[in-house]
Amino acid sequence: MSRILITSALPYINGIKHLGTLAGSMLPADVYARFQRSRGRETLYICATDEHGTPTELAAAEKGQDPATFCAEQHQIQHDLGRAFGLSWDHFGRSSSPQNHRLTQRFAQQLWEAGFIEERVTQQVYSNADKRFLPDRYVIGTCPHCGYESARGDQCENCTRVLDPADLIHPRSAVSGSTDIEIRGSKHLFLRQSLFAGKLRHWIEAKRDRWPLLVTSIALKWLDEGLQDRGITRDLEWGVPVNAFEWGPNPEGRTPDIEGLAGKVFYVWFDAPIEYIAATWEWADARAAEAGTGPAPDADWERWWREPAAADVTYVEFMGKDNVPFHTVGFPCTLFGINETLGADGKFTPVNNAPWKLVDQLKGFNWLDYYGGKFSTSQKRGVFMDHALELLPADYWRWWVTANTPETSDATFTWEQFQAQVNADLADVLGNFVNRILKFTESRFEGKVPEGGAAGPLEEKLEADVLAKLRELTEHLEGREFRKAATALRQLWVLGNGYLTEAAPWTAFKTDPGRAAVGVRTGLNLVALFAKICEPFIPFAAETVALSVGEAFPGRWPVLDGSPVLAILPEGRPVKAPDVLFRKVEDTQVAEWRERFGGPEAA
Ligand code: MF3
Ligand code: ZN
Repeated sequence: MSRILITSALPYINGIKHLGTLAGSMLPADVYARFQRSRGRETLYICATDEHGTPTELAAAEKGQDPATFCAEQHQIQHDLGRAFGLSWDHFGRSSSPQNHRLTQRFAQQLWEAGFIEERVTQQVYSNADKRFLPDRYVIGTCPHCGYESARGDQCENCTRVLDPADLIHPRSAVSGSTDIEIRGSKHLFLRQSLFAGKLRHWIEAKRDRWPLLVTSIALKWLDEGLQDRGITRDLEWGVPVNAFEWGPNPEGRTPDIEGLAGKVFYVWFDAPIEYIAATWEWADARAAEAGTGPAPDADWERWWREPAAADVTYVEFMGKDNVPFHTVGFPCTLFGINETLGADGKFTPVNNAPWKLVDQLKGFNWLDYYGGKFSTSQKRGVFMDHALELLPADYWRWWVTANTPETSDATFTWEQFQAQVNADLADVLGNFVNRILKFTESRFEGKVPEGGAAGPLEEKLEADVLAKLRELTEHLEGREFRKAATALRQLWVLGNGYLTEAAPWTAFKTDPGRAAVGVRTGLNLVALFAKICEPFIPFAAETVALSVGEAFPGRWPVLDGSPVLAILPEGRPVKAPDVLFRKVEDTQVAEWRERFGGPEAA
């Protein structure tokens, strides 16, 4: 059986994430990871905070902290929130880890020595007052096209024209407002992505029937627009330092300009995807430390990432659509570049017999927004992970977000729709079912799985219907179709409710005790089955449900080979009704939350 390696796009360190970030990477990755584990597959789900870059430096400065302290604090906050949401990461790492420093530097060195990196001098804005180079979007001024006074150096927000900082009239620093800025030349490293255009196109074309259309179309559009070489270094302090002094000559015999590159760091989008691998290394080291065996041998983490050891690994990535270019073009170029060399004849040759693994399945998502507008920290619009958990348990959010995953189009959160859906699905259908049958077992069957009575046509039909739906659910989860999976799961709950209504053991109890026993036993087995199949979606409630019927948690996904799926519980086993599984969301709460987080009027 194949192993499954799962990564979700690494959340930026800066700021607590909102429901949209959860919907577009971390939560579906978690549902998938939990599902694969319950099927018995060896699964590794890796995530981390993406910590480098100018926004981090500025956010730290705003809080009066140095970036290292700021990141350590924010990492802990995001880690704790993720865990509270039930995200079952095998490891939640940090792109600032020593492992990522080493791996990023090692990859860069290999790329240089293979001839895939070039030095260029770029003209950049330097702020004397801030004593730093300013990335384009931190230079503001008047737009030469429309006269808008706060146009950013990369683009004018008002007329949307793409700009160069040098175009701006009265340019000033967005950091300090100082106009004491100048253009200076600065040495930088460029990854020669254009060399890989043909190879990339070939690779992506081959994925056409296996990746969502959203993903391949974004990737091919980038290639169609012409693949540019990409600057992979920046004039910043916080990042992975460029270690050019350690590098050997490139194929042309040139060594890098050590002085020109001194004090620079790699671009955040160069080191962040490498952290997927480095976080696996962190995971291996952490496990070795726990076992008291010191740093892990490379083989422990490389078995997930390097052929031939990783030949049985299926690598699945989850991300929002804005991330697709970096994962279909940027990161693959890095990996092509360390796996192969390009000869003068234009042919690629493998450089080693343990190439690094590229992504096998890439799931991209559209946006989840808030009343048709953007979630915004600064404008206090929308629900963020910390506030969400203050209002309701994680499962409400997990269920709503999964059932509304923005797969085929953008989706929007509204309190009204949220209330209607969680009340209907979780309280009325699932919660009510579990409660009804367990309460009845307590009052009429001494709280034990009833014995006796023989299954009839009603139970046979139920078995067949449940099996068919289970197959559907399983197929959708295997295919990473989360909305469809949630629909199938809901339909299974509905089947259970329908069965109980028809079997009506409460009526049969007086007239036909054997019938009543079968009805209740079947109902309890449905409860046990639901605990298993709800786990990927709503793990906290699933655990409560499993314990109520004395089942281990997490359980194993049902086997779908045609053997009975509703013969889980031994007769006579004690069971116990849990406290209310899902309380209904009230109108007064919705009114209050709309007020607090913004409603349609704020869009
Ligand atoms: N931090 C990025 C974002 O939130 C995602 C980085 S994914 C990585 O858009 F792989 F590059 F790390
Ligand atoms: Zn403009």
